[in-house]
Amino acid sequence: MAEIKVIGVVGSGQMGSGIAQLAAVSGIDVWLHDSDSLALTGALKSISNSIQRFVSKGLLSQAVGTDALGRIRCASNLEELRSADVIIEAIVESEVVKKKLFSDLDKIVKVSAILASNTSSISITRLASATSRPTQVIGMHFMNPPPIMKLVEIVRGADTSDETFSTIKALAERFGKTIICSQDYSGFIVNRILMPMINEAFFTLYTGVATKEDIDTGMKLGTNHPMGPLELADFIGLDVCLSIMKVLHAGLGDSKYAPCPLLVQYVDAGRLGRKRGIGVYNYRKIPQAVKLSPNL
Ligand SMILES: NC(=O)c1ccc[n+]([C@@H]2O[C@H](COP(=O)([O-])OP(=O)(O)OC[C@H]3O[C@@H](n4cnc5c(N)ncnc54)[C@H](O)[C@@H]3O)[C@@H](O)[C@H]2O)c1
Repeated sequence: MAEIKVIGVVGSGQMGSGIAQLAAVSGIDVWLHDSDSLALTGALKSISNSIQRFVSKGLLSQAVGTDALGRIRCASNLEELRSADVIIEAIVESEVVKKKLFSDLDKIVKVSAILASNTSSISITRLASATSRPTQVIGMHFMNPPPIMKLVEIVRGADTSDETFSTIKALAERFGKTIICSQDYSGFIVNRILMPMINEAFFTLYTGVATKEDIDTGMKLGTNHPMGPLELADFIGLDVCLSIMKVLHAGLGDSKYAPCPLLVQYVDAGRLGRKRGIGVYNYRKIPQAVKLSPNL
């Protein structure tokens, strides 16, 4: 198994910035690319703040934190990722956009490089079909926020090789994660179960069964979930939740996965959750709500 010295991360939003941070803290050089230069600037700031919080809580030494920050370089174009051993993609949850990226990366990166996707639900087999290296394409699904959540769900496409799987498993373990392995069906394991619950919480709100607060309190205190489903949807991003429901609906062909009209309407209105300051809840008006964020 080849040693991984350089990782490319494409997409520097909530997930990409966290994945870049994990890799850098693990002593791996990182090229971080985003099509939006403002997102890159924001990512560097949030990574720096997060590392500082880890240091101040005694969870990381100052030396490792400083070394990690020095390992992350921003790439203004994809070509700069050509030296990467593994590329982890964390861009928008759209099959068309991800396929175009995989096709472009396939032409740029070295022959031995692995192309991994952090997709929440999209078929790894179909992403792999956009490349000339389907044996080296795999799903590496981190949970949000990546520096904190312990799980990585590894998804094998129809042609993913054992060697690619072993390399990505070892990488996730180097990041300190526990892995689970899923076959390549819509939503994999975690979102196949989580997203229908979140969608049902939207239906419960939409049909006037209860207030958002009571729905969340019910699931927190009644089922011991650390966050209510509507709070969690805001944390994940309502656009991401909607995309995943559409993938489940199309991929599994059952009407029980149809996205709730209220979720669709919130996304249409730009109410995407915490990242926009408003989703099911309004974080602009309630500054204390920011303290709820488990994001480090
Ligand atoms: N949010 C979550 O809780 C979560 C959890 C696990 C996995 N995911 C998955 O991770 C991926 C990213 O989600 P996120 O929440 O970080 O989204 P986000 O909106 O925070 O970030 C996405 C970033 O990708 C960039 N981008 C979009 N298209 C691009 C392209 N063609 N090339 C380069 N950059 C591009 C955007 O500018 C943005 O900065 C999605 O596939 C999502 O399903 C999300």
